[in-house]
Amino acid sequence: MQKDIDSIIIAIDGHSSCGKSTVARDLAKVLNIAYIDTGAMYRAVTLFALKNNIIKDRKIDEKALKKVIEDIDIRFRSNLSKGKSETFLNGENVEDAIRSLEVSNNVSQVSALGFVRKRLVELQRLMGEKGGVVLDGRDIGTVVFPDADLKIFMTASPEVRARRRYDEMVAKGESPSFDEILKNVKERDEIDSTRSESPLKKAPDAIVLDNSNMTRTEQLDWILDKLAEKGIHFDK
Ligand code: DC
Repeated sequence: MQKDIDSIIIAIDGHSSCGKSTVARDLAKVLNIAYIDTGAMYRAVTLFALKNNIIKDRKIDEKALKKVIEDIDIRFRSNLSKGKSETFLNGENVEDAIRSLEVSNNVSQVSALGFVRKRLVELQRLMGEKGGVVLDGRDIGTVVFPDADLKIFMTASPEVRARRRYDEMVAKGESPSFDEILKNVKERDEIDSTRSESPLKKAPDAIVLDNSNMTRTEQLDWILDKLAEKGIHFDK
């Protein structure tokens, strides 16, 4: 049966720093569908907890976070002038604030909490249930939308991912150590794949995309080919 692009769900999971959000954004743009950055949602909860002193010195007051988790409002709104969607936390644009080092340093602990995952998975399902959407994260094809129409599991070698992050930081005027970054990439893989709540793992029906030696255009075309192979109709 042919499926229309406005009703389909595309799930992109995979390792940190392998360009999931870049390809998800590119897909959303060419297919004219919505993009949901689920990592941004875990980051927004982390920012909320930091701002409200629920996290102090890397320690989370789980009781306090549990009490307020239902009241945390997270939305995505498209910024037409920037041509991308941005994250809003309780009405405030936090797109830049959620990318800070402080948030990055605390988000893996927050995303390991069962009650946080339960709430965000609920929101993600509400946002995506009508279809016409691409979501990226760690558990989209396994937990959030196990019946997604297309599941991609993205990866690249740790060295390639570390090199990309190194180059990004150098471009921002920083002087990082490549070895430190490589160590951090490997550590994050280990934490993401071994945590007890929804660990990162490939869904049995996900297609692996190793983009170590691919350009941005090649990886986008690769996914568009997979959609076409599944009989999903779209205008590029
Ligand atoms: O993709 P990212 O780096 O912005 O994700 C931030 C953190 O959130 C990262 O530690 C993994 C976690 N995460 C998750 O556990 N489940 C998701 N669906 C998305 C992100």
